[in-house]
Amino acid sequence: MTPQARTENEHTLLLAKAREAVSHAYAPYSHFRVGAAVLTAKGNIYTGVNVENASYGLTICAERAAIFNAVAQEGPELRLKALAVICEHPGPCPPCGACRQVLAEFGPDAVVIFQGQNGLEEVPLFQLLPHTFNLPEKS
Ligand code: THU
Repeated sequence: MTPQARTENEHTLLLAKAREAVSHAYAPYSHFRVGAAVLTAKGNIYTGVNVENASYGLTICAERAAIFNAVAQEGPELRLKALAVICEHPGPCPPCGACRQVLAEFGPDAVVIFQGQNGLEEVPLFQLLPHTFNLPEKS
């Protein structure tokens, strides 16, 4: 089984959880609500939403919120198999660069599911972020 392999059930549930999360987003400034869900190597799913702040730069994206939630639940050995991101608008809505880099830390082989120009796309992280930053001792 490749690291990013998921069962059909896991895939469906991951998307459903990301969709469900959207309504919990806190986006009073941009009104751009985003929900994300990650699937861990242990088979658990954790969600996150974007949380904005009056001091705009403090905003956290849904994807990073989901990843940090997963770390809090499973600890530092966390491995991620997949991340799904859903936004309220038709899209496209791929994860931003910062979220790709954070995903690389815990799921270099993960697959990313997001709203593309024409419906859902599924792209391996290494294609979305070919030159991940790593400290020498980690590579
Ligand atoms: N946002 C995300 O949640 N994920 C992304 O990958 C890009 C942007 C959020 C941040 C902000 O609350 C809103 O979308 C508009 O930028």
